[in-house]
Amino acid sequence: MRPAPQVKMSKFKPINGILSDLEKILDKTHILLDREQKESYSHDYTEDLYFMPEAVVLPGTVEEVAEIVKLCQANQVALTPRGAGTGLSGGALPVEGGIVLSMERFNQILDIDERNFQATVQPGVINEVFQNAVAEKGLFYPPDPASKGSCFLGGNIAHNSGGPRALKYGVTRDYVLNLQIVTPEGDILWTGANTLKNSTGYNLTQLMLGSEGTLGIITAIVFKLIPKPKNTLLLLAEFQNAEKACEAVAAVFREGLNPSALEFMERSGVEISVKQLQTHFPFKEGVEAYLLIEVDGNQMERLYDECELINVVLEKFDVKDVLFAESADEKEHLWKIRRAIGETVKAISVYKEEDTVVPRAELPKLLRAVKAIGSQYGFESVCYGHAGDGNLHVNILKGSMSEEDWKMNLEPAIREIFEHCKELGGTISGEHGIGFVQKNFMDIPFPAIQLHLMKKIKAVFDPAGILNPGKIFPDSLQ
Ligand code: LAC
Ligand code: ZN
Repeated sequence: MRPAPQVKMSKFKPINGILSDLEKILDKTHILLDREQKESYSHDYTEDLYFMPEAVVLPGTVEEVAEIVKLCQANQVALTPRGAGTGLSGGALPVEGGIVLSMERFNQILDIDERNFQATVQPGVINEVFQNAVAEKGLFYPPDPASKGSCFLGGNIAHNSGGPRALKYGVTRDYVLNLQIVTPEGDILWTGANTLKNSTGYNLTQLMLGSEGTLGIITAIVFKLIPKPKNTLLLLAEFQNAEKACEAVAAVFREGLNPSALEFMERSGVEISVKQLQTHFPFKEGVEAYLLIEVDGNQMERLYDECELINVVLEKFDVKDVLFAESADEKEHLWKIRRAIGETVKAISVYKEEDTVVPRAELPKLLRAVKAIGSQYGFESVCYGHAGDGNLHVNILKGSMSEEDWKMNLEPAIREIFEHCKELGGTISGEHGIGFVQKNFMDIPFPAIQLHLMKKIKAVFDPAGILNPGKIFPDSLQ
């Protein structure tokens, strides 16, 4: 006799029981039930994952968010908050069914306080829209994920996003002073104060950073801003050898230089990006990798001096040519190619993106290990990313691998890469988060005791476990 199929019992209830109550909180136009309307909320930028929500809700006020949360809490309905859906770890996907709560109507910049260098914004504001709005007043919000043109600031907080400028200026967490959140039990609170310093009790603001929508829903943000540097210069350095390019990275800092961005790109990544964007690029014979290096500041002469000094360092690592981007257009052209690598690689092959991070000087060892593990398991990879931060994005390509090999080899290969990161003093995500796709690797960075401690924190906030279930914690702890 064949064994009965294993049916996973969900601890969550279907939404039918709460639909009429939901309609008392929200206008019907803000409750999406049709498949077509829900389609775009069933995936994000992560590979080819697909989870259709039972309903999508579009609240417009913090009180509505709180009422929805309370309703889900009382009825054991899974609730998954969502920003723009540009995440790369499946964090916004309703993997346990239930409701997706989209923050897209929270799209207002509420206040730019030039006196205090602060801004209060709603979480559905697009990163670049915010950057531009503060730049008009001579202010600077540095975090700039590759998806800055479409990602929401709330999602940036949920994942503690970085981007190229994190190198000099820090990541999202370094700019968040205070958050208004709706807790998983429906309470509305501010986590901190609008101050640059704060030693007042546990830091719930920072606990929310990188919590991936599992501890609360962010409904307003107070950001710290800094003065905007007036100028930037951008260099493109060509290397014959990718490992040498990685070695040069730590050397730049040892010379006392402080670039605002230092990105690594394998030639294959640049080729794919350039081809997909149908644009031009000065490809030369024998170049295997590039460093894209930006310096910023107010005095042009100093910036030219800094570039000169960087050049001297790079020469020690067999740099071929170092090209200057002369105009704003040229700079934007190079940045566009760099930013598009992730998305364009995805377009050419089934792939899996990893977000490895190690102490900066260990980057050459990480790159070597990724390539060796690739040869062992038979996959190609495109590596690129924020080299100055030791943060290497590894896009593992299925290419011509058989379906069977891909399924069998992918997980052990990723495990080996991650274990290598850990041995080098690194960890398994620098900026993309754990979400759904990395959760079963969480035993690598953390011993069981630490995961249990995190799980207890989650239970304090969300005793019924309704908020963004199925994320961060390995299946064994769900
Ligand atoms: C980037 C994204 C993938 O750096 O984090 O392009
Ligand atoms: Zn990145």
